[in-house]
Amino acid sequence: MKFIATDVLDTQQKMVDRATAQLEKPGFAIDPYFYRSHVTYQTELEHIIYKSWLYAGHISQIAANGDYFLFDIGEDSIIICRDSNGEVRAMHNICRHRGARVCEEASGNRRAFVCPYHGWGYGTDGTLKAARDMHVMEGFKPENYSLKQVRLVVFQGMIFINCDPEAPDFVKPLSNISAQLGAYDLENAKIAEAKTYRVDANWKLCLENYLECYHCASSHKHYAKLHTLQALAHKVKPINEAMWARAEEMTGVAGIADEYYGYYNDSADFGACSYHSRYALYDGIQSGSKDGSPVAPLMGNMKGYDGGAGDFQMGPLTFMLNYPDHCVLYRFIPRSITETDMELVWYVNGDAEEGVDYNKEDLTWLWHNTTLEDEFIITRNSEGVNSQFFEPGPYHPEHESTLNEFVTWYLKALSQLQAS
Ligand code: FES
Ligand SMILES: [Fe+2]
Repeated sequence: MKFIATDVLDTQQKMVDRATAQLEKPGFAIDPYFYRSHVTYQTELEHIIYKSWLYAGHISQIAANGDYFLFDIGEDSIIICRDSNGEVRAMHNICRHRGARVCEEASGNRRAFVCPYHGWGYGTDGTLKAARDMHVMEGFKPENYSLKQVRLVVFQGMIFINCDPEAPDFVKPLSNISAQLGAYDLENAKIAEAKTYRVDANWKLCLENYLECYHCASSHKHYAKLHTLQALAHKVKPINEAMWARAEEMTGVAGIADEYYGYYNDSADFGACSYHSRYALYDGIQSGSKDGSPVAPLMGNMKGYDGGAGDFQMGPLTFMLNYPDHCVLYRFIPRSITETDMELVWYVNGDAEEGVDYNKEDLTWLWHNTTLEDEFIITRNSEGVNSQFFEPGPYHPEHESTLNEFVTWYLKALSQLQAS
């Protein structure tokens, strides 16, 4: 499902009208139009994705001055770099001369970024250092042509960026979950593995799938044996309550189970969601692994296993599922109207040694396989919703309530745009 024909009569007004009409039918899956419209996709990039706080990476990826990596969003590329003064920076990977990418390699160490086209050279802080022969141009000032900087926040070792220079603050929303997330000491954690799953589906289908666990029982047989999230809340209430009662004592972390709901429509500012809740694993399960036993040493300040897992959201497209012994970060990034990068990052304790304290296969088994199962159902979903015969059905009021929250937030964002 890589190719979708352009509707030549599509307009932004049509999109706004459709979003407004869809909002009048709450609790129903959205019209296929929103997955097929190129106008909608470009508008989403401009008004949703590039105005949201997005996880870019971890400070351990740029430990030394000059270290960098690229973060690709849509058709764009952003350089995340530690400059020669040790400052972390995010900059558009676009030459200020005629727009070539100044850096192609996905990661590395540089003393400068030299454009391959006409050779303009930029320092690791983005300042233009060399522009061959441009001195003959009267009034040319190199200081006017630095690489464009991107907003950036480093929170507990994780780097978040926002392409909107006017984006609202993200530090305050994150502070609402800092105690719960702080338990894992992610600042000093180690990335044991990171994988990008390129899924042939619109980004919303991938995100919608993550936001509901109605499909868990039917699609994730193994996951569903371990995590109570797959069941209706009243059925697993006693298991959750027992875990909440013992969580602080067994993990040694005050407030570890404190909930905070600031996602989508409850977020104080657009694109700056934060959320945490702790839910129970089934009896006897300690971690998210093949047999439910630990697969790595305890993270950060955690003193033991309470049979719980921390569920986090940081910005609209980034999530984390944190077991006492490892954390799994999940991020969704659109790459085209029908392609999405689902990025998974497995964090372990910074002192853990591969082959001694953990092995990658055991550590990644559950979420690698669960993600492949998701990829299968998401692509089937994509095929179905792109049919002219698809008529959207109702969301389950409980199992799909978070998905409904996202969709409502999304439609509101579109419907509020003035057609231009
Ligand atoms: S486009 Fe980069 S130097 Fe010309
Ligand atoms: Fe899933």
